[in-house]
Amino acid sequence: MSFLNNHTKLEKSATWLLIASLAVVTVGGIVEIAPLFYLQNTIEKVEGMRPYTPLELAGRDIYVREGCYTCHSQMIRPFRDEVERYGHYSLAAESMYDHSFQWGSKRTGPDLARVGQRYSNEWHVQHLIAPRSVVPESVMPNYAFLKDTPLDVNTASMKLTANRRVGVPYTDEMIANATADMRAQANPEADTKGLETRYPKVKVGNFDGDKTTLTEMDALVAYLQMLGTLVDFSTYDESAGYR
Ligand code: HEC
Repeated sequence: MSFLNNHTKLEKSATWLLIASLAVVTVGGIVEIAPLFYLQNTIEKVEGMRPYTPLELAGRDIYVREGCYTCHSQMIRPFRDEVERYGHYSLAAESMYDHSFQWGSKRTGPDLARVGQRYSNEWHVQHLIAPRSVVPESVMPNYAFLKDTPLDVNTASMKLTANRRVGVPYTDEMIANATADMRAQANPEADTKGLETRYPKVKVGNFDGDKTTLTEMDALVAYLQMLGTLVDFSTYDESAGYR
């Protein structure tokens, strides 16, 4: 059993044990990570994905600020029980504009990757103000203050610029119109032509039900309502990406 004897020697030398462990971990790492650069599913560009609108981006920042990710994931795993409950499993491309990603690591509440358009705006507002008024057994905290907090519209273009620096393809035009686009998305009476050409499939609405002020509630609900709605899965082919 010379192999075992050699192993004893290895275990007694801290330096060689470290070198050997590193070698083993490297091989394991390459086997797990290298295929991700070649698998269709992880590198494909998926039709329909676009950067967040300024209002959705502001909502996303509120989602992060309030720690929603500590209870909610945004990552549907490719298992039957998850797919039946939440819808098509998440594609890598669906988080391509997320800095930082919101996959999460814990579900106290349900996954939110495809929650968009599942409920009405009114439901979301009521649920965020007082979760137990719609789901009596809920343990989710109240976020009523969001409806009374005016949204900071002056940082809109800065947020787009910051995202562009890390690779999100915001154009100069998008950045120049950031504040106007933010207001237009929350106002069904506004001229939304520009907004709609810049951000295809954008959902316009008076999200928090109050026309007078643009609030943090507007932004958060706009964000929730677009989650998982950009990719059209009726035309998505598992093996070849888009047909
Ligand atoms: C302490 C954990 C916790 C935190 C923090 C939390 N939630 Fe929840 N959330 C839950 C639980 C539990 C449920 C399921 C019961 C319910 O619907 O209220 C839920 C449900 C939801 C739902 C309905 C999902 C569905 O498919 O029915 C939405 C939307 C939601 N939360 C959004 C948020 C947002 C946005 C935030 C941050 C502002 C947040 N949650 C913070 C625990 C949490």
